[in-house]
Amino acid sequence: MTQLAHARITAIGSYVPERILTNDDLEKMVDTNDEWIVQRTGIKQRHIAAEDEFTSHLCIQAVEQLQNRYHVALNDVDLIVVATTTPDYSFPTVSCRIQQHFGMEQAGAIDLNATCAGFTYGLHLANGLIAAGLHRKILVVAGETMSKITDYSDRNTCILFGDGAGAVLVERDLEASWFEAFTLGTNGEGGIHVYRSGLAEQMDGTPLIGNGKIVQNGREVFKWAVRTVSSGIEQLLQQAVLSLEDIDWFVPHSANLRMIESICEKSGMPLAKTLQSVQDMGNTSSASIPLALEAAVREGRLKLGDRVMLYGFGGGLTHAGLILRWGISKEI
Ligand code: UT7
Repeated sequence: MTQLAHARITAIGSYVPERILTNDDLEKMVDTNDEWIVQRTGIKQRHIAAEDEFTSHLCIQAVEQLQNRYHVALNDVDLIVVATTTPDYSFPTVSCRIQQHFGMEQAGAIDLNATCAGFTYGLHLANGLIAAGLHRKILVVAGETMSKITDYSDRNTCILFGDGAGAVLVERDLEASWFEAFTLGTNGEGGIHVYRSGLAEQMDGTPLIGNGKIVQNGREVFKWAVRTVSSGIEQLLQQAVLSLEDIDWFVPHSANLRMIESICEKSGMPLAKTLQSVQDMGNTSSASIPLALEAAVREGRLKLGDRVMLYGFGGGLTHAGLILRWGISKEI
C-alpha cells in the first residue's frame, strides 16, 4: 500500500453496562434454555443498558477509559467517527454528543451506519483520511444499545444481542506503516432488518414487521457470513502478500461462536488465534471487535507489533476486513 502518511492505533478503551442478562434470565422470558443457546451460539450472558442509558453514554465511558488509561490529550482530535446502528437520536448524532462532552473544539463529527461492520469501516475511513494528509488525530468509536431494538418476546433474536462500546485513537505516524490491507463488500439484499414505523409501507408497500425491532433470517445470514468472510480472509492475505501463519490474532465480528468456528474451519485460520467477545457479551454489533481487542490488551495477550486481522460483517448485508500491526506501545 503506497501512503503519504501512516495511521496508527495509539490508545483503546471500552465500556459495558452493569446489568447482566443470563441465559437463565431468558428462560423465564421466552421458550428457550441455556443448553440450546450455548450449543447454537456459544453465548452465556450479555450486558444490557439501563432504561435511561443510551448509546452516547456508553461511548463516552469508553472514551473516558481510553483518556484516563493512556493520559492522551483529546483537545487536538480533528475528527470523531462513531459507528452505530442504535444512535440516541437521528440527530444530534452520537459523535456530536461525544464532541460536546469532551469539549473537542477542533473536531469534526460524523456517525456512520455499517451495522456490525461499522468499526472496521471506521478504521478504513480513518486510515484513508490520515494517509491522504487530511487529518492527524481521529477518534473511532463503536457503540450500541442493541437491547433498545430487540424484541424480548422473539426467541429467534432476543438471545443474541447485547450492549457495549469501544473506542480507539488513530494518529498520524510518519515513521512506520501500521495498516497493511483492506477489503470491503456489500450484498444489499438485507437478510436482517429494522424497519422504521410508517416508512417501509410508504416506500414500497412492505408491511411493517418487527415493529421497529430486529427481524432476521438467521440461517441465511449465517451462511452468507461464513462464505463471505472466508473468501475475504484470502483476499486480505493476497493483498498483503502474507499467509495464515503471519497472522497473530484474528478478530471477527462476535455474532455467534459457531459462526466463528465455521469461518475458521473453512478458511484454515486456527481457532486458537481468535479473539472474541461473544461468550460474555453476546452480539454487540459494531462494538464487538473493539470489545474483544480491549479485553486482549487488558489480559496482556495483544502486544505492540502483533499482526491482527479484523473482520466486520452484518446487516445490509455489508462487510469490511483489514490487516494491521497493533500500534499501542504504552502498557496499562
Ligand atoms: O450480526 C449479524 C446478526 N445476525 C446473526 O448473527 C444471525 C446468524 N444466525 C445465527 O446465529 C443462527 O441462525 C441462530 C442462532 C439465530 C439460529 O440458529 P439455527 O441453528 O440457524 O436455528 P434455526 O433458526 O434454524 O432454528 C432451529 C429450531 C427451530 O425450531 P423447529 O422449527 O426446528 O422446530 C426454531 O424455532 O430452533 C428453534 N429456536 C429455538 N429454540 C430454543 C429458535 N430460537 C430458539 C431459542 N431457543 N432461542
